[in-house]
Amino acid sequence: MRILSGIQPTGKMHIGNLLGAGNQYVDYQNKGDLFLMVADLHALTVLQNPKTFAEETLNKALELLAIGVDPAKCTLFVQSHVKEHSELAWILNTITPLGELERMTQYKDKSKKHRENINAGLLDYPVLMAADILLYKTDVVPVGQDQTQHLELTRTLAKKFNSLYGQTFSEPKTMLVKEGAKIMSLLEPKKKMSKSDNPDSYIAITDDAETIKRKIAKAVTDTGKDVKFDPAKKPGISNLLTIHSLFSNQKIPALEKRYKGKGYAPFKKALATLLVEKLEPFHRKYEELKRREVYVKTILSQGKERARTIAASNLEEIKEKVGLLPE
Ligand code: TYM
Repeated sequence: MRILSGIQPTGKMHIGNLLGAGNQYVDYQNKGDLFLMVADLHALTVLQNPKTFAEETLNKALELLAIGVDPAKCTLFVQSHVKEHSELAWILNTITPLGELERMTQYKDKSKKHRENINAGLLDYPVLMAADILLYKTDVVPVGQDQTQHLELTRTLAKKFNSLYGQTFSEPKTMLVKEGAKIMSLLEPKKKMSKSDNPDSYIAITDDAETIKRKIAKAVTDTGKDVKFDPAKKPGISNLLTIHSLFSNQKIPALEKRYKGKGYAPFKKALATLLVEKLEPFHRKYEELKRREVYVKTILSQGKERARTIAASNLEEIKEKVGLLPE
């Protein structure tokens, strides 16, 4: 089984990334041939600081290693190091209906948020993502819920390519976790937790104990004082219950029962303590890796070599099918 996923380098990895996708990476590296990339080209659709961008890209690899991604079990690489991604994106562009891209939720949201920079890359973002996935003839893509629409497009493009040029791609499956595929913001619990928002709206996997306690104390809860799971009426507390349940491996009804009639404060305190305990190993590993930059760069270089070999051979086949003149 071939598995591929990616994460953008900008911003810190947070518990939404971890619960929705990161834990799946760690799981899937034991189940099949996992390709995991830092999607630096995708991040360029928002203007980046060229002085710090490379460092952020390296940093994202550090965070992935810190949560347990094991380079001995998977292929960890940087998207821009494998030029075939951009090349396949171009070919897929030529079979992508513009209307499909214009209706993408993320495109609509991001073009509202970045009115001053609605660039062609922002619209084309899902095609590059389809290229990332199809380039490796991927079977399975573990992601959070916000990526499902992009994966539908990927399947549409796979089918269209196959019907135009002959069977080449299988249709990759979207893998969502049952609980935690959409962790919400701590400050605006009707919105998803996002690394590009106010840092107080998320818990980063590298946050220290004080920061975690402060952010959980500040997390928006709802009127009333019952620790009860009801996402429509109590989105704040429901989100915190989901987070607690996923980190503690306890069922939500058991948590509701334990904190019944006690108000929010003891529950929030317990959640903060739990997060401090569970994130501490990641934090420690991350600090250790920070001192081993050469080692991390070597991992990325080896990942690039392996990814390139497969990407180049698949792209050659794709170009031939399309009818491009062989070199
Ligand atoms: P990115 O960097 O926004 O997020 C990385 C992964 O984390 C998931 N995620 C969440 N899951 C649950 N709750 C949340 N609040 C939350 N926020 C983020 C995302 O769904 C994602 O799985 N376009 C992708 C990167 C990408 C990619 C790919 C992914 C590029 N090419 C090919 C899969 C396959 C992105 O921006 O993820």
